[in-house]
Amino acid sequence: MDKGSHGDCSTIHIANQIPHRPPVRLSGYVAQRTERRPGACDAEAMNTSNANALLALGRSLHAAGYRFMTVTPSTHRRLNGRPGNEEATDLRGVFGWSRPFRPELLPPDMLERMKEAGVLAGKQAALRSTVRASTLGELLLFHSAYPTSEPDAVFLGPDTYRFVGTMQRAFPWIGSGPTRALDIGCGSGAAALTIARKFPHAEVIGADINVKALELAAVNARLARVDNLALCHSDLFGSLEGDFDLIVANPPYILDEDRLPYRHGGGERGAELSRRIVEDSLARLRPGGNLMLYTGVALSGADDHFLESLRPLLERTCDMWSYEELDPDIFGGQLGEPGYEDVERIAAVWLHAVKR
Ligand SMILES: C[S@@+](CC[C@H](N)C(=O)[O-])C[C@H]1O[C@@H](n2cnc3c(N)ncnc32)[C@H](O)[C@@H]1O
Repeated sequence: MDKGSHGDCSTIHIANQIPHRPPVRLSGYVAQRTERRPGACDAEAMNTSNANALLALGRSLHAAGYRFMTVTPSTHRRLNGRPGNEEATDLRGVFGWSRPFRPELLPPDMLERMKEAGVLAGKQAALRSTVRASTLGELLLFHSAYPTSEPDAVFLGPDTYRFVGTMQRAFPWIGSGPTRALDIGCGSGAAALTIARKFPHAEVIGADINVKALELAAVNARLARVDNLALCHSDLFGSLEGDFDLIVANPPYILDEDRLPYRHGGGERGAELSRRIVEDSLARLRPGGNLMLYTGVALSGADDHFLESLRPLLERTCDMWSYEELDPDIFGGQLGEPGYEDVERIAAVWLHAVKR
C-alpha cells in the first residue's frame, strides 16, 4: 500500500496523488492508530507486501467467480451452528462464513498468499481466515472475519447493503455528480468505492478512525482498479480540510457496552456520532452540496427525537431535505441491553439534505 505525504499531511493514496487539489490533512497517522488488545488477534498489521499478497488473494477469488453477501451476526451464528457446517468445504466457507478449514482445502498458492498477507490464523487442521470477503455488485471487499469482536474490527454488513443501495438510488438527484466527495466512517470503502466508480472525474475521500479499515479499503480500491480515492485517518472531520459537494455516512448508532468503534454511536441512545455528522457536514458542504446519511435511530413512542433535534438546523441551512424510515425494526436483539429500557424499536433511517 502506498502512503503519500505532503507537508504535515499524510494519507493513504490509491495510485497517484490527485493533482491540483487542496491537500487532505491527516495528523499523526501512526500515533492515532486504533488500539489493539494485546494478543487479541493473531493477524499482523499490514505492510506493503501484506497488502500486495491480499490483493493477489482477492484477484484469485475474483477469478474463481467467488460471491458472498454478509448476513447479520445472529444469522451467521445460526448458519455456522447447523450440523455439517463445523468446517469449511469451499471458498465461501473459508472467506465468507469464517469457518475453520484444513490446509488441503485451498490451492497451495492461495494458502501462501494468506500467509504472506498475514491473514492466516489457527492451527494445522483448523486454520482460519482473519478476513472475510464480501461482494457488493461488482465489488469484492475485504473486511473482518466473523465474529467481529476486536476493537479494530472492520465492518461490512446488511446495513452496508441498505446504505449503498439507497445512496445509488439517490444519485440521479446529484446531476453530473460531485467534484469532491467524502465518505465519513468509510470502513471497507463500500460507499466511497461506489462513488469513485460512478463518478470517475470526482476526487473521493474515505475517512475513518480505524487504521485497519483504511488498510483494507486501500486493498479493496486496488482490487476495484479505482484511482480517484484517497483514504484518511480522521476522527470525524478533525483531520480533513476543505469543503465537499457530497458527504455520505453510515456511522455507528448502537449503545455498545464494549464501545467497539464500528458499533458505538455514543450519547443518548447511540445518536451522538450521527448528530455530529449532520451538524459538521452542513458546515462543510458547498452551496447545493448533498448530505446522505444512513443511520439507526432508537425510538420510543410516536416521536423521533433524533429528527426533531435536527429539524431547526435542517430548516435553517437546507434548500431541500427528506427523511424516511427504510426499515421500522432492525437489531431487535439490542433492546434487551442496558440503555434500551425505554426503547420500543430501532429504525433504519435515511436523511438526504441539500445545502442552501
Ligand atoms: C457501521 S460502520 C460502517 C462502515 C461503512 N461505512 C459501511 O457502510 O460498511 C461505522 C464506521 O465508522 C467508523 N467510525 C467510528 N467512529 C468514527 C469517528 N469518530 N470518526 C471517523 N470514523 C469513525 C468506524 O471505524 C466504522 O468503520
